[in-house]
Amino acid sequence: MTGPISLGIPPMPPATTDPTWKRAWDAALYGPGGFFRRESPGSHFRTSVHASSLFARAVVELTHRAGLDTIVDIGAGRGELLREAHRIDPSLALLGVEVAPRPADLPDAVDWSPVLPSGVDGLVVANEWLDNVPCHVVEVDGSGVPRVVHIDPSTGRETLGAPLADRVVPPGLSAWCERWWPLTGAPAGTRAEVGTTRDEAWADVVRRVSRGLAVAVDYGHTREARPPFGSLTSYRAGRQVDVLPNGSRDLTAHVAVDALAARVGGSVLQQREALHTLGVSGARPPLDLATEDPRAYVAALSLAGEAAELTDVAGLGGFWWVVTAVEVDSPLGS
Ligand SMILES: C[S@@+](CC[C@H](N)C(=O)[O-])C[C@H]1O[C@@H](n2cnc3c(N)ncnc32)[C@H](O)[C@@H]1O
Repeated sequence: MTGPISLGIPPMPPATTDPTWKRAWDAALYGPGGFFRRESPGSHFRTSVHASSLFARAVVELTHRAGLDTIVDIGAGRGELLREAHRIDPSLALLGVEVAPRPADLPDAVDWSPVLPSGVDGLVVANEWLDNVPCHVVEVDGSGVPRVVHIDPSTGRETLGAPLADRVVPPGLSAWCERWWPLTGAPAGTRAEVGTTRDEAWADVVRRVSRGLAVAVDYGHTREARPPFGSLTSYRAGRQVDVLPNGSRDLTAHVAVDALAARVGGSVLQQREALHTLGVSGARPPLDLATEDPRAYVAALSLAGEAAELTDVAGLGGFWWVVTAVEVDSPLGS
């Protein structure tokens, strides 16, 4: 029998310059002049941090209950959460990790850095960070083969690249899909957003916590309810707009929270439950208060409205909290 001689050593996969979604997404949000290097997230979409100071109050409460005195906010935006945390408890040590420059009006007590600290003794929180961590997108072709999706950033035109099983595809994508977002037998056009980059990014954060809690808060899904066509979305100026990785808009996709929790070890709960445990409730103030102290009643009613927004399972209350405790007991259960 003749044929190629095998040395039993697989050749190294060539470094790929394929125009993958991940590549375009990275450049659009974080490349030179990228969206998040210039734009304030709060000018384009509303997170729990913008919705109410009760969110910061809950994060501070969690920090206290865990016996911690430091908060590190990853993907800190313009420092909204940390400003509020400082107002609530000025004794806390606070650090924002953010690719955008330090906001000029941030209180001196809040530290700011573009890179993760090497070690953390405290609470690390990342509210709506991981959905912005670029990931690969795959799609099942007409023959039932999952392929990496390529994208032209200027036009938004997509093409299908290498099959997921091909050696030019980054290692781990295929195994991740098999375990967390299986595409075998799926109809043509079925898509998956591969969570490897999010899992790795969060594992890197959790690894740095020597004692404390790591809390990732985001919209997401679990294996029973993956969106069959994926969830890639763009926002600009408060509106959902066409998905395009050209730096003019946000790019986001839901997080596979079960895969994330399995990677770092931790519990998964919905924001509604987490906030209720931390004392945030949408209960209306007693009517008697309206006559006894009308101003206090109006203020309490307004806070109850904000709490209701944060805990509504059809909205922010349906967000997922992935909570990992290191050398402390988690006040949110294990
Ligand atoms: C959706 S915004 C969330 C902002 C804020 N946490 C909030 O809840 O309003 C995501 C933020 O993460 C930041 N970000 C993304 N990747 C980052 C990284 N590797 N290091 C630091 N900041 C990052 C972006 O610049 C952006 O400000």
